[in-house]
Amino acid sequence: MTDSSASDSLGTLAILWHGDHLALLDQRLLPDDEIWLTYNDAQGVADAIRDMVVRGAPAIGITAAYGVVLAAQRAGRDADWKMAVGDAIDRLAASRPTAVNLFWALERMRTRLQTCASAADAVASLTGEAEAIHAEDVAANRLMGQHALGIMPDSPFAVLTHCNTGALATGGYGTALGVVRSLWRAGRLTRVYADETRPWLQGSRLTAWELQQEGIPVTLNADSAAAQILRRGEVRWVIVGADRITANGDVANKIGTYSLAVLARHHGVKFMVVAPSSTVDMALQSGADIPIEERDGSEVRAVRGVSVAPDGVSVYNPVFDVTPADLIDAIVTEKGVIERPSLEAMRAVF
Ligand code: MRU
Repeated sequence: MTDSSASDSLGTLAILWHGDHLALLDQRLLPDDEIWLTYNDAQGVADAIRDMVVRGAPAIGITAAYGVVLAAQRAGRDADWKMAVGDAIDRLAASRPTAVNLFWALERMRTRLQTCASAADAVASLTGEAEAIHAEDVAANRLMGQHALGIMPDSPFAVLTHCNTGALATGGYGTALGVVRSLWRAGRLTRVYADETRPWLQGSRLTAWELQQEGIPVTLNADSAAAQILRRGEVRWVIVGADRITANGDVANKIGTYSLAVLARHHGVKFMVVAPSSTVDMALQSGADIPIEERDGSEVRAVRGVSVAPDGVSVYNPVFDVTPADLIDAIVTEKGVIERPSLEAMRAVF
């Protein structure tokens, strides 16, 4: 996707490709400041992914793909240009471990690289592949929005979501938040409850901001308020995204997702996971095989630089958890809806 800072129908875009550089909306500063950072090389892009300038499983895959294009542009004058681009792919792959979209996108770029005869050819060819990855993500999100409507009530209801799965986390439109957009446009949504999503606050800083911008009614809640909200009966579906879905239908997503699934089952609320097929990893049998990223304890000890814990206290900070398939009512991908996911149901689609 090229220049077009924000699109009404897709939400606020956070990844803009300008042909010779990549611009990323710095998601660490939202919603207070809207600052765009520019990148000219793959190492900068890898750092941006690791440091959360850009985040969200599909978004980091798309960003990494453009990082490979930048590597090809810079390697143009090297005799070993192919090896240089291959090294850049390895560096991009080392940025974050859990979202499989990153490795999926980089594998597509590596495969395309193998077909290129010259550095000039590589720049054109890799650009085409990165733009295709970007455009396919947007198309998948729109399709998932339509598929999901087919299994939800016609009369308006409230939903609860976790983390940020909107335009900011994808190429545009969003996964779980894409379904929210589709519900709203269909007149079937009363309100979105947005978990604030400690410790990084993707829910309060990003989801609440995205929904407010679109005029979709949103109520922000502390993560620990979810049980009380679900008990009241207004929320009919919990809708979340995913960072990796394994062959048996287990789902890795933002820390706190698993507890929400347990709560939803207890309260008779349906639980939906929305993710493109680039998030599906049929090579892993179950969620136990997924590498779960742990980030620095400082992300829990302080909130935006303000200390909220004793200095140096020990912290456990896994940033994803695994929801077992049997707590999930539906996985929605662009290929359709998988109800009550299992190995058999997953194999039938993937
Ligand atoms: O650590 P983050 O912000 O990259 O985690 C993001 C999530 O967990 C999202 O729910 C997931 O990537 C799906 S985004 C469409």
